[in-house]
Amino acid sequence: NQVDPFDFVIFGATGDLTMRKLLPAFLRRFHAKEFADEARIICIARSAHSEDDYRQQVSKTLREFAPETAKSTATLNRFLKLVQYIPLDATKANSDWSDLEKALADPTRIRVFYLATSPALYSPLCAALSKHDLITDKARLVLEKPIGVDFTTATEINDGVGKFFHESAIYRIDHYLGKEGVQNLLALRFGNPVLEKLWSSDAISHVQITAAETVGVGTRGAYYDESGALRDMMQNHLLQVLCMLAMDAPASLSADDLRNEKLKVLNALRPMTSEMVRQNVIRGQYTAGLCGQENVCSYQDDLGKDRTSNTETYVAIRTKIRTSRWGNTPFYLRTGKRMAAKTTEIVLQFRPQIWSIFSNTPSPGRLVIRIAPEEGLSLVLASKDPGAGGFRVRNADLQMLYNDQFNITYRDSYERLLLDAVRGNPALFIRRDEVEASWRWVEPILATWREDLSPLEPYPAGSWGPASARILLARDGALWHEDM
Ligand code: BG6
Repeated sequence: NQVDPFDFVIFGATGDLTMRKLLPAFLRRFHAKEFADEARIICIARSAHSEDDYRQQVSKTLREFAPETAKSTATLNRFLKLVQYIPLDATKANSDWSDLEKALADPTRIRVFYLATSPALYSPLCAALSKHDLITDKARLVLEKPIGVDFTTATEINDGVGKFFHESAIYRIDHYLGKEGVQNLLALRFGNPVLEKLWSSDAISHVQITAAETVGVGTRGAYYDESGALRDMMQNHLLQVLCMLAMDAPASLSADDLRNEKLKVLNALRPMTSEMVRQNVIRGQYTAGLCGQENVCSYQDDLGKDRTSNTETYVAIRTKIRTSRWGNTPFYLRTGKRMAAKTTEIVLQFRPQIWSIFSNTPSPGRLVIRIAPEEGLSLVLASKDPGAGGFRVRNADLQMLYNDQFNITYRDSYERLLLDAVRGNPALFIRRDEVEASWRWVEPILATWREDLSPLEPYPAGSWGPASARILLARDGALWHEDM
């Protein structure tokens, strides 16, 4: 199962993503023998580090972010030999590209360009790669999110990179698709007819998708304040999870069959008017509070700026999918920083019984699909209460933890995705039309907020978000999972 030798070029090699995610993911896959010592990881950034300095920095990072693998000194040292550092300001016309040209001397090898840079640089970097004749038949381009800040900028980026790379060679990464729990939605749905039979408005009264984090913005304030939760998480990660959850069965697991079905979901999302945004979208920003055991400060204080920020750190959306499968089921999507728990999960709430023979009726059952922190399933079913006199019914929970059933090899979603890009398997990457359809749906929300037509509500750090998020569900007679 080992991949062919490859040259993997990372632009933005001193950044957080490279250090915390990409290099640790490579180290783990190297340790698992998924690639051999002939591979090259060519790291590019503007700083004038020597190769030794850079490798030392990488070694320190790996000990921190992949300690279980980096503790094997032999593996670590072999891995560090694959890492090459080339200082280069790739956006300057007069920069010297000769070191990179030399490093990429063999055009027959697989070549991946990973742009872990600001999206504003995507098109200029591709133009520079083309000018230096580095785009071979075997070259692939991996782009990090965000692809633009709205529909127009996303289209510009897609057009810009599309001049130099064919769509089939462009890999737009969404690390949520690399998560086992998200991919498992396919197995769960299309491998279990019993579940697939329930998978529609007939049996499911509503669906919740939550990606809650306890962290604040940390040191990413400059990026985050321009982005906010809607662009940072909702437009990409949550919509992708929604697609995997709601799509019809693809004809096969091929990249295009999968992506065609996901696209249909995005196109079937009920478009919003400004009035609908006001009724169906909640935006919030965290204030100081107790998060876990820690007293933490407000978003504004985290930014450390004097000016006030209108950026949302929380967003909840109520939407519908206009298909015969889902037309009668509201979908609630929410994400936020500094919330009560780190959890990524999906709740499918079953419809209540039409008539019950029992004197007491427990709340209708539900299926909870847990993606993080621990992957698992929980099926809440009505059961006879053995303790109670007479015949009483109450809910019982059938639990399955993936860790108990399987040996989980991929610790991080990047491990899977980086090697998929090398292998040339784009199934878990986003196609251009998906990105654009997502932005198209998000646009009216951005526009309504831009005109400040809906309030930005404060919520205390460590809570489950603004009070009106509860009301959003209460209107349908529903509760968020933590309130059930
Ligand atoms: C990233 C966002 O894409 O996803 C971050 O930019 C967020 O703001 C992160 O913290 C969450 O990822 P995960 O895998 O921890 O849920």
